[in-house]
Amino acid sequence: MSNDSTSFNRRTMLKSLTAGAIYSIAAPNIVQAKSSMSPADFPSISEDVSPQSLAINESFWARVAPFYDTAQGIVNLEHGYWGKMSRPVQEDFVTNTRKVNTELSYYARKHYADDQIISSNKVAAALGAKNEELVLTRNATESIHNLIRQYNALGQNDAVLYTDIDYPSFKETMQWLATSRNIEAVKVVLPAQADQKQILDTYIEAFDKHPNLKLMLLTHVSNQHGLVLPVAKISAIAKLRGIDVICDCAQSWGLLDFNINDLNVDWAGFNLHKWIGSPVGVGALYMKNGSLNKISPYPGESDPDNTKTSARVHTATVNFASILTIPAAIDFHQRIGGKNKEARLRHLRALWVNEAKKMPHIEVLGALDDESSSGMGAFRLKGKTSLQDAQALQKRLENEFGVFTVVRVGLDSGCCIRVTPQVFTSANDISQLVLALKNLA
Ligand SMILES: Cc1ncc(COP(=O)(O)O)c(C=O)c1O
Repeated sequence: MSNDSTSFNRRTMLKSLTAGAIYSIAAPNIVQAKSSMSPADFPSISEDVSPQSLAINESFWARVAPFYDTAQGIVNLEHGYWGKMSRPVQEDFVTNTRKVNTELSYYARKHYADDQIISSNKVAAALGAKNEELVLTRNATESIHNLIRQYNALGQNDAVLYTDIDYPSFKETMQWLATSRNIEAVKVVLPAQADQKQILDTYIEAFDKHPNLKLMLLTHVSNQHGLVLPVAKISAIAKLRGIDVICDCAQSWGLLDFNINDLNVDWAGFNLHKWIGSPVGVGALYMKNGSLNKISPYPGESDPDNTKTSARVHTATVNFASILTIPAAIDFHQRIGGKNKEARLRHLRALWVNEAKKMPHIEVLGALDDESSSGMGAFRLKGKTSLQDAQALQKRLENEFGVFTVVRVGLDSGCCIRVTPQVFTSANDISQLVLALKNLA
């Protein structure tokens, strides 16, 4: 978003800061596409260029940015909620909406089932899963809630495990599972800053301490501070100890580039409306072949031989157009390249985190090493851990410095501000955050 208007905002902000004035931000207004961007306009990516070199090439990313509608007036660093569709995807979605709305039930009853299979298979292929291992859902919550609720292998003295960095609703669902089966729920607290070894050691310690664990929730990328967990390693150890793993990949797919087999898990829930850039309302549930017996069919669905992943959800009427737009979203994601996207987003996090770590008044949360880091990050003012502290900080960033972020409340170490750039975020946008961080002292 480094364009004339943004530089104007920066100058205004700098002037306001010098004058000690409060910087007031107008509500973002949308800059409509002057003309649609065709795939032919997409900057070419030479095979010789590594994702790391491309990540620091501002002019390349400045040519990717026009593929997205731009909202001016504020630097939005809260892209962890859901992902903006690129223009080609948005256009496909509009076309699909029009088609469904025109053809209505005639289309839905006669042709949607076939189109839905095409979309589902496209997701399976992109994830490296087999077609029958995947079913589309409306979001990751639907996928993970069904896995937790329909888990049927708990005995009398078993226990289930989750951690403070897991998604708040899923922690509650794990707690509900334990309460409803009258068994123990073990809550583990991960360090506020951690590397891969510390994370793994924390899980192993919990496994040692609770030999009766039967099921665990494992989050690939935390929604709190973007910490990346060593899922494959944790899962391998869990499996050896007879602990089943439900993996939450809601925030990870597209933010990180991976194949489902890299994770070594039997069950996982995904979102496409975050980092794959589909319209809102698209998630997926993965269940490895041969793993269905411990997850009962959705109430009322029949699958006596435990072979149908599709029997684990009952989604009913969906936004048909969102589902039809999946192939366009995956194509655009792959055009950027999963590895390029991951490297660029990591680079954008490093740009502010490396500066923030030098500031004595800031506490950066989450990753201590590269493997534990993603494009998402979080921080707080040192010692300011309450909800009121975090809310006041979010307001200051928005109203005084023109940077939009979000408060997260799930960590045991306290509340924080989450910072999440997107592929159309520029290094200049990040320097606006860095300037704000300096001025928070
Ligand atoms: C780690 C994680 N899990 C689950 C979810 C839930 O995603 P959704 O609301 O799309 O189901 C989110 C959303 O932010 C998330 O970050």
